[in-house]
Parts: sequence; structure tokens; C-alpha cells
Amino acid sequence: MSRHDETEAGEAGAGDTTPAPSIAIRPLASTEEVRGLDRSLADASPEKHRRRLEQQQQGRVTYLVAWEGTRPVGHVLVRWDGPTAEPMASAYPGCPQLEDFFVDAGYRGRRIGLRLLGAAEQQARLRGCRWIGLSVGLTPSFDRARSLYARSGYRKAGFAPYYEGWWVRDEQGRRQWWEEACEYLIKDLVQEPRTTT
Ligand SMILES: CC(C)(COP(=O)(O)OP(=O)(O)OC[C@H]1O[C@@H](n2cnc3c(N)ncnc32)[C@H](O)[C@@H]1OP(=O)(O)O)[C@@H](O)C(=O)NCCC(=O)NCCS
Repeated sequence: MSRHDETEAGEAGAGDTTPAPSIAIRPLASTEEVRGLDRSLADASPEKHRRRLEQQQQGRVTYLVAWEGTRPVGHVLVRWDGPTAEPMASAYPGCPQLEDFFVDAGYRGRRIGLRLLGAAEQQARLRGCRWIGLSVGLTPSFDRARSLYARSGYRKAGFAPYYEGWWVRDEQGRRQWWEEACEYLIKDLVQEPRTTT
């Protein structure tokens, strides 16, 4: 799963780590909200949020955004047409896939990530999906995400590691192509316990 560009979101900080009940999680709803996302959570992919609103209107994705009032503080994209890369596509055809899971650095550790995951899984259950999948990097920078996935019931799908690439911005603001070794995780939405939202 592509990782949001850390350089524009700030360093992972020792923010408040108490749960954040004031956070509302809902699908992206309007071009006005797209502007809010562009202002607060812009990254190396210009037009990303606008494209996602369009894809959501076409029914191809659900873009869940976490809001504190009018400020967006996190997001996860649920792609409904399933994995396109093999062997995942053949093994889990039409399995919804989570992408671009991100919480603003100052808001981490307050269960917003857990709630975003839970909201995405709930949407998948409502559509009658048996599985939900995602790709995660193998380097230590993904350790926090990996432990959250493990606690939430995601297991290795058993495929060989592969490389995924995406655009990031370096400290000088230049766009750079970044590649990372990844593995595929899958959660059984019927057998596994539900995530608390
Ligand atoms: C992965 C990510 C979305 C999780 O979001 P989050 O809101 O911090 O998630 P949660 O608060 O639900 O859980 C995070 C875990 O880190 C712990 N943590 C402790 N201190 C923390 C801190 N200062 N900041 C963040 N997390 C902290 C939390 O307590 C929790 O673990 P625990 O349940 O064992 O206590 C977020 O860390 C992130 O955006 N990372 C960068 C992008 C990324 O790696 N995305 C995943 C791509 S596969």
C-alpha cells in the first residue's frame, strides 16, 4: 500500500496519544472537502483527492477520511474492483483492497488508524465481501502499520514479496519515484473478530 509522503505531513511526533472521540470518519463528500484535503494533506500526487472523488462517484472506490471538525487528519482508500497484480488477482478476485492508509503525524497513536480500518471493513461487510486485502512494506518504517494490521486480524496471504512503487517528495520538494519491497496481507471478514470502530 502506498505510503503518504512523510515530508509534507511533518515528522512523526509525540502527539496526544489519548483516543480521539471527536474524530468523524466518513466517505469524501464534495469538491469543497477535496480542497480541504489538498490544503492539509497534499502529497506528491497532484489531483489525487479530486481523482478519488470522481472514482467514488463511479462506484469504484470509497475514500474514507477522518475529520477533526473541518480539518482532515487521515484517510484510507477502499478499492472495490480488487487486486490487479498477480498472483493476488487470481487468488482473491474482486476482493476489496485498502490503499493509502495514512494518519497525520501529530494525530497518531489515538486510534484514528484503527477506526479507519474498522470503517473500511464495515463497508466491505455491508457489501457482502468475505475478504479484504492490502499491501504493506517490509522495511522497519512500516512496523507500526504492521503491528496494527496484525492486531486487527490481517494475516500474510502467503505470496512471495514483490516491489511496489509510488511518487514521494524529497526534503527539497522534488518528486521522486520510490520503490519498496512489499507483501500481501488478507483479512477474513467472516472468521476474524471485528475491529472496534
Ligand atoms: C499506520 C498509521 C496509519 C496508524 O495510524 P494511528 O492513528 O497512529 O493508529 P492507531 O492509533 O490506531 O495505532 C497505532 C499504534 O501505535 C502506537 N503509538 C504509540 N505511540 C505513538 C505515537 N506517538 N504515534 C503514533 N502511534 C503511536 C499506538 O498506541 C498503537 O499501538 P498500540 O495499539 O499497540 O498501542 C500511521 O502510523 C501512519 O500514517 N503511518 C505512516 C503511513 C503508513 O505507514 N501507512 C501504512 C501503509 S501500509
